[in-house]
Amino acid sequence: MKEIIIYSTKYGSVERSAKMLKSYLPEDTVPVNVKNEKEVNIEDFDTVILGGSVYMGKIQK
Ligand SMILES: Cc1cc2nc3c(=O)[nH]c(=O)nc-3n(C[C@H](O)[C@H](O)[C@H](O)COP(=O)(O)O)c2cc1C
Repeated sequence: MKEIIIYSTKYGSVERSAKMLKSYLPEDTVPVNVKNEKEVNIEDFDTVILGGSVYMGKIQK
């Protein structure tokens, strides 16, 4: 099983959460900041976890 955590963060809270979550998942779990990686092939993964912060009721684009 391969897992990926794809996240977006404004001030770093979601990034810290993604890294904390990774520590509970298999060692090869990849945390990816969408701002740094424009192209991710999610077909390569069995599980895709999405994370982002909410501002004024809206999740980040
Ligand atoms: C101006 C402002 C508006 C926010 N609006 C919401 C909101 O509508 N709903 C919510 O659940 N959290 C809201 N939050 C909390 C953020 O989503 C939360 O602090 C998040 O962990 C920030 O993550 P980031 O630093 O990765 O962007 C808001 C925070 C700020 C500063």
